[in-house]
Amino acid sequence: MGIVRNGLLLVLVLIIECNGVPRFANYIQDHMVLQRAPQRAIVWGYGDAGKLTILRMNNKIYRTISSLEVANEVGESIWSVTLDPVSEEGPFDIQVLQPLANGTLVTITIHDVLFGDVWLCSGQSNMQFTVDMMFNATEEIQNAGNFSKIRLFTTSLIPSASPVEELLGINLNWSAASPKTVGGPSWNYMSAVCWLYGRMIHQSLNGRPIGLIATSWGGTPIEFWMPPKALQDCNDTTSKNLPIQQPYNELFQDVPVNHSNLFNSMIYPFTRTVIYGSIWYQGEANSGNPTYACKFAKMIQYWRQIWNNRTNGITDIQFPFGFVQLSTSTNNSAVVGGFPMLRWQQTFNIGYVPNDVVPKVFMAVALDLRDDPNNIHPRTKLDVGYRLSRSGLAVAYGQKVEFQGPIVQNVYYNVEGTTINITYTAVSDIEIRNPDGFEVCCHDSQCSNDAIYVPATITSKSGLTITLTLDRRCFGKPVYSLRYLWRETPCPFKQAAIYSATDSNLPSPPYMKLFY
Ligand SMILES: *[C@@H]1O[C@H](CO)[C@@H](O)[C@H](O)[C@H]1NC(C)=O
Ligand SMILES: *[C@@H]1O[C@H](CO)[C@@H](O)[C@H](O)[C@H]1NC(C)=O
Ligand SMILES: *[C@@H]1O[C@H](CO)[C@@H](O)[C@H](O)[C@H]1NC(C)=O
Ligand SMILES: *[C@@H]1O[C@H](CO)[C@@H](O)[C@H](O)[C@H]1NC(C)=O
Ligand SMILES: *[C@@H]1O[C@H](CO)[C@@H](O)[C@H](O)[C@H]1NC(C)=O
Ligand SMILES: *[C@@H]1O[C@H](CO)[C@@H](O)[C@H](O)[C@H]1NC(C)=O
Ligand SMILES: *[C@@H]1O[C@H](CO)[C@@H](O)[C@H](O)[C@H]1NC(C)=O
Ligand SMILES: *[C@@H]1O[C@H](CO)[C@@H](O)[C@H](O)[C@H]1NC(C)=O
Ligand SMILES: *[C@@H]1O[C@H](CO)[C@@H](O)[C@H](O)[C@H]1NC(C)=O
Repeated sequence: MGIVRNGLLLVLVLIIECNGVPRFANYIQDHMVLQRAPQRAIVWGYGDAGKLTILRMNNKIYRTISSLEVANEVGESIWSVTLDPVSEEGPFDIQVLQPLANGTLVTITIHDVLFGDVWLCSGQSNMQFTVDMMFNATEEIQNAGNFSKIRLFTTSLIPSASPVEELLGINLNWSAASPKTVGGPSWNYMSAVCWLYGRMIHQSLNGRPIGLIATSWGGTPIEFWMPPKALQDCNDTTSKNLPIQQPYNELFQDVPVNHSNLFNSMIYPFTRTVIYGSIWYQGEANSGNPTYACKFAKMIQYWRQIWNNRTNGITDIQFPFGFVQLSTSTNNSAVVGGFPMLRWQQTFNIGYVPNDVVPKVFMAVALDLRDDPNNIHPRTKLDVGYRLSRSGLAVAYGQKVEFQGPIVQNVYYNVEGTTINITYTAVSDIEIRNPDGFEVCCHDSQCSNDAIYVPATITSKSGLTITLTLDRRCFGKPVYSLRYLWRETPCPFKQAAIYSATDSNLPSPPYMKLFY
């Protein structure tokens, strides 16, 4: 809604009967972060229909008229103000004024609002997993008070059958980072990956205010987070009503959840506000699902479209979207399972991001960060936060930081040979930590059988090229398939074969190639 500047509308407003008191939407609160310049932040709330609504902030006055349509059961209508771009970080008070039926002006205020970058963090249990549960939690929580310009917010875990404008529940109101808010109760707040990502980009952006919205739910498949159109585009017309169980739900209840239900209740309410980007850690619950690449791509596309549309084109139609590639689970390095293919699908079947399939997507590789006693919930989140923040700084902020491990550029092999050469790119040099992790299939039409693969060992390195020597069983035979780290839990902690030589925390992502 535009800014209205004349008195004529005042007259119009006065003739409309009304009796409500204005309020902010339930996540527009004290201590929040609104999106900074060059974007324009949106502040919205409820009040009577067709009322002149005045917003005051930092010596500026904005005027709008609340919607004529009733938006909810209690008869309230929505007002929404799009601010001019704000490059000062604040803190600011924001006042909103609306007249009551008898002409009295009511003023409502939120305090201590900062302007910075707003990131939304979503997914399943590895995103919900809280700071108090990670390795190095004590130090992380003790130091949290140093980052009071990082503001935290966590939604409640409640589904909805249809899209809702406001959140159905809040676990943590907007709060400054502190030992208490960062170190909140297990599974409740604060998401470790969300926090670590935000804390690390905050430090690399010279202390820029960062708003972190944590909205995730353990055990949930991607279909719960997809708008209906995204499901349709992937030809998914099924429905699920999975009971999602404790301990993820703080009420310790089994709650039935259907497709799109968490998009409706835990994502859609935020699409009226402007965000900088989103991060995502999900996929364990979809392992073995052949449609994940389509679903992940379509979910990102429709989130972007809906956000862009509902913020009047302000939220970038290609807002940066980061994700954590699946980590590990079983304590048995022989198991292939569904994780390798799911990791591949997370890159839209390319093997790395960003790529041309879905632009402005970045990731943290995590399959070398196993934590056996905690199996599917590795506590090694500090490394995840570091890797995701490097790729966020590069892709979302255009900083020249190293953010990828070595990426396969070319694979050369001679039919009837005994070696394969692989050339890497994206790094200036590679580090080889052990010779294992590659394997090949040299039996045509049987390469879907994991038992047919034999090892191909790294036997030399020259610059960015490594040479693999095939197992004798494949000597002199054509190679039909090559793969790397194709296991649920492929290697000991940080002992994958290939890393960047200049940032030793960046592994080469898992890889596969079919030669037919
Ligand atoms: C207008 O209505 C409000 C709310 O009912 C009341 O508090 C206020 O005193 C009234 N003002 C006048 C001028 O009647
Ligand atoms: C995290 O804690 C481990 C020991 O628990 C320690 O070896 C490691 O250096 C710590 N990492 C950081 C970044 O502080
Ligand atoms: C962060 O806070 C802790 C505890 O208040 C303090 O000891 C530490 O020096 C601070 N670190 C930085 C980097 O400011
Ligand atoms: C959030 O703030 C509201 C308004 O002050 C309060 O009623 C509510 O209890 C708070 N929620 C939490 C989870 O602290
Ligand atoms: C969905 O079905 C249509 C019509 O059969 C087909 O053209 C399209 O390729 C399918 N899309 C996917 C992602 O499978
Ligand atoms: C789940 O959603 C589908 C549509 O996506 C609907 O047809 C079905 O009735 C829903 N099931 C339940 C139990 O609500
Ligand atoms: C949002 O979508 C509606 C309905 O498709 C369309 O009419 C409108 O122009 C779109 N607005 C923007 C800003 O893209
Ligand atoms: C992992 O597997 C090994 C070998 O089976 C076993 O000795 C070890 O106890 C397991 N560790 C955990 C934490 O399950
Ligand atoms: C692989 O590289 C080695 C050493 O650089 C070279 O001698 C060999 O011919 C290459 N093999 C292939 C198949 O390109």
